[in-house]
Amino acid sequence: MIKAQRGTKDIFGDEIATWHWIFENAKNIFQNAGFNEIKTPIFEATELFNRGVGDSTDIVNKEMYTFSVGGVEKKETSITLRPENTAGVVRSFIEHNLNRQSPPQKFWYFGPMFRYERPQAGRQRQFHQVGIELFGIKEPTADVEVIMLATDFLNSIGLNNLTVELNTLGCSKCKDGYRKSIKNILAPYLNELCNDCKIRYEKNPLRILDCKNENCQKILEKDEIKEIILKDYICDECKEHFSELKNYLDELNIRYSVNKMLVRGLDYYNRTVFEIKSEALGSQSAVCGGGRYDGLVEMLGGTSTPAIGFAMGVERLYNLVNKITPQKTDFFVVSNNTKEAIKLSQKLRQNNKSVEFDLQKRKFTKQLEKAAKTAKYAIILGDDEIKQNFYSLKNLASGEQTTIKNFEELINYYAK
Ligand code: HAM
Repeated sequence: MIKAQRGTKDIFGDEIATWHWIFENAKNIFQNAGFNEIKTPIFEATELFNRGVGDSTDIVNKEMYTFSVGGVEKKETSITLRPENTAGVVRSFIEHNLNRQSPPQKFWYFGPMFRYERPQAGRQRQFHQVGIELFGIKEPTADVEVIMLATDFLNSIGLNNLTVELNTLGCSKCKDGYRKSIKNILAPYLNELCNDCKIRYEKNPLRILDCKNENCQKILEKDEIKEIILKDYICDECKEHFSELKNYLDELNIRYSVNKMLVRGLDYYNRTVFEIKSEALGSQSAVCGGGRYDGLVEMLGGTSTPAIGFAMGVERLYNLVNKITPQKTDFFVVSNNTKEAIKLSQKLRQNNKSVEFDLQKRKFTKQLEKAAKTAKYAIILGDDEIKQNFYSLKNLASGEQTTIKNFEELINYYAK
């Protein structure tokens, strides 16, 4: 038997209603705030992620589904299944000159992403993200808008006991100072760091703060190192930006805690970064990750444009929310006269009702049993009903049966 690939999952049956509900809530919340849905391709040029997500990240170094294609076009191209969607949205923003519209330009998305990670609860190789990206605003109003929409959306699906962790990485200037200090303090421990961190030390030392290796963690916990990490490297302008954001969040009663160790796993961030976590999820506790990426548009060839956004793992949201009970269909047409049953079903569907009928010419009682499981009402079309032109309508919850004179009355009765 051919099975689904490790780290992938079929989503079907009762789960679908909850997936739709999550999607509809996202659509509502984001569209009400003026965000437009954007669907970018699932694969992009590998270079987009190498440059966009960053070559010091685990995503680029270990987790990308990358392959060469070119048979048809006779030119080898390296493409990658998108591991995240920020780089793709930025590519699209630049390609379609969306910066010509007056800012802010606001997008939301929902779709599958791919990372070759070790699968475990809450971590898959194909997973879904719902997210937003907001371009063109450097003021902290954009930061608060994005964090507010994240919490509003989570509240809308019944998740309100989550913690927002917040940090500021500063601008490129503050980041340089921070990097240098971290390199200096870690220099004596370089040989003790894991192999990945030895590379990170050269490419992007901030990444070391995110390392899960036990030994690296122990080194980071040393007092003299902690002191340097927790010291303030942020310039006055970035401090002001961060403190304005915090004031807005206080004003909105959005609870947050500042975590100076929060650096995020992607290279494009500057200034505000945040994650929203749930204890209920165990080790994969982040439901949402996001932040500012003011340099990315320019780095990928566009004109300098500040931007901020977030993405949430839909599978993780699914695990946390109360599940939606799938709706029963409005009607099941029970009849031995298949032609009449088909005709009535089509007419009802044309009137926007959900209807099923028996496709197997089963006995009346079998049809009624099936109807009781899947529908709210059975429309009984027996010989008498067909000859005398009426319907017997059975409420499948109460068992009550009513005679209905014609189609119009059927629709009206149901509406009531
Ligand atoms: P990220 O932190 O890599 O950020 O992913 C965001 C969220 O996607 C995570 O918090 C988690 O809920 C979910 N997620 C990530 N990997 C997996 C996985 N293997 N299995 C299940 N869920 C997963 C980004 O992707 C950025 N693009 C977010 C962003 C948007 N920053 C600015 N704009």
